[in-house]
This record gives sequence, structure tokens and C-alpha cells, in this order.
Amino acid sequence: MRKIEDRIITTNLKDEDIEIESSLRPSSFDSYIGQEKVKKNLKVFIEAAKKRNESLDHVLLYGPPGLGKTTLSNIIAKEMGAGIKITSGPAIERPGDMASILNSLNEGDILFVDEIHRLNRVVEEMLYPAMEDFSMDIIIGKGQTAKSIRLDLPHFTLIGATTRIGLLTSPLRDRFGVINRLEPYSVPELKKIILRSSEIFEIETDEKGAEEIARRSRGTPRIANRLLKRVRDFAEVNFEGVITEEVAKHSLDRLEVDKMGLDLTDRKMLMCIMEKFSGGPVGLDTLAAAINEEPDTIEDVYEPYLIQLGYIQRTPRGRIVTDYCYEHFGFKKERDKK
Ligand code: ADE
Repeated sequence: MRKIEDRIITTNLKDEDIEIESSLRPSSFDSYIGQEKVKKNLKVFIEAAKKRNESLDHVLLYGPPGLGKTTLSNIIAKEMGAGIKITSGPAIERPGDMASILNSLNEGDILFVDEIHRLNRVVEEMLYPAMEDFSMDIIIGKGQTAKSIRLDLPHFTLIGATTRIGLLTSPLRDRFGVINRLEPYSVPELKKIILRSSEIFEIETDEKGAEEIARRSRGTPRIANRLLKRVRDFAEVNFEGVITEEVAKHSLDRLEVDKMGLDLTDRKMLMCIMEKFSGGPVGLDTLAAAINEEPDTIEDVYEPYLIQLGYIQRTPRGRIVTDYCYEHFGFKKERDKK
């Protein structure tokens, strides 16, 4: 059997993303582009904790995937001069897993739990005394001779990350002293990230080329960096190696990422609502079944950007597409057709 530590200290990224992200990941607040408000506040909390010689209060980071929750946590650890252990909600299956992680922490360490909304109830309940009093209760023995003993833990900082703050229980949410929402990045911020990544990869990218990729990256650095790598392939094979506006446009069209950054699944979903459900409302589960996707994937990955663009809205009766969406596809609504 694998060691507990190997099983629970994990990440859920695909191999390519791990490789891209580890080489591009900024390691200080100064090299981290965007999320200005969050950065500014965190800097104050870190400085204050350091001045008082205390561990940083527990931090909850939430927002759509790919916005830099793990990166920020690594930077927080570095700025605090602390160690970091990275794990995720679904990886911690049993209370014993959590006990072993908590037991392995040193004074001041950061414990980063990705997808914290997916912790099971028993494991989550172990976190309450750990977060509040830095202690954990463990049961020794079985049956009538079983005894509960309380162990002291080092003062650590839990950083929880989630794409679904609504699924967090209130006892858990209330135990975080700092709660930050990460926002989608603007096009100028993504452009800066793409130019920075191009330097690291030694790719020649001009301003307009970077801007074209930025515009189609749906507010997400992870997507921007992935597209940059693919556009580089086209630039090297079909062009002279430099990423210009023309090269970026050609490559992104070939990748079927349209001018607003919509990909095949986005388009399938929007077309489905317009064509099969007359523009909505349609319930999430029905929509998911109609396009053969997981409801969670639609909610976490696809919908936030489409809502941000104003292409769909969530209503109590289900999802509806908006006039902007009809305009994007050059369609007319049923009722406007006559
Ligand atoms: N690469 C990925 N995210 C980044 C960010 N926020 N700043 C700089 N480089 C990045």
C-alpha cells in the first residue's frame, strides 16, 4: 500500500497543466499579476501576523478554477517563511488520514486543502477543534475500554480553496478569519501574464499577439498559458516562430476558440438552450443530460464565464440565454422571427 502521505498530498491538475504551472507560477506577490485587492489585504494580514509572531489566521479562497488559488497559497507560505502541505478534499477519505496530516505539521506551517467543499462530514468535523483550539481528539482502543484523548497541535494556518463556496457548511466557513473571492482577470492583466510566460518559455510574442490570446482566455491565466503553448506550436510549424496578431488569430481559429474565448462545449451548450429549449428556462440536470456533460462541470467550469459575458442567466426556473447570446450567434429568438 502507498504511504498515507503519498495518497493524500496530491493535486488534481492534468500532467500538462502541472508542468506548465510549475514553471510559470509566480513565487512572490511582486511577480503575481492581478487580484490586486486580495493581494493588498493579504500583505497586511501577513505583515501583522509576522509582527505579532503568530501564525496567519485561516484563509478561504474561492472562485472559478484556474485563477491562481494554489499559486497564492504558495506565495503566502513563502512570505510567512512557513512550510506548506498541499492536499485536497476528496483525497482525505478517513479521519485517520486527516489525523496523520495534522500530526505531520510544524509550528506555523500552511495546510492547503483544495476543493475543501468535498471533505466528508467526519473528516470536516475533525477540523473544527484543529482550527479553533489547535487540538485534535483521537479515540484509542475499542468498545468499552475506548478512550478519547485530546492532542495539542502546532499553530498552523489552514488555507481552503473552493470553486463552490455555497456548498461549504457554515461551521466550516465561519472558522476562516480571512475569506477572499478571486475574480476573473481582465484582458490587460492576461496580456501581461502571457508576455511574462513568453519570456520564461523564450517565445517571441508581440503586443498584439499577446492581446489576441488574452481576449480569448476567458479571464483565466491557466487557459491563457495553455493557449500560448498551442499557439507557439502553430507559430513554429506554420509561421516563422513569432506570435503576432495574425498567427494568434489563425491558431486560435484552428483550435476552435472563438473571438470571445468560447470553445466547442460552450457553443454546444448555448446552441442547445437556443435550439432545443427555445432559449430556456432549462434546468441544470436536463441541460447536462442533453449535452452529455456533468452538471458540476457545467456549473464550475463553463457557466461562470458565460454568466460573466452576460450570455446566460440563472433564474429560479433554470438557465436562460440572453439577447447578447442570440446576437453572438447571429440568431433570432422564436418570438422575433415573424
Ligand atoms: N501565471 C499564472 N498566473 C499568473 C499570475 N497571476 N501572475 C503571473 N503569472 C501567472
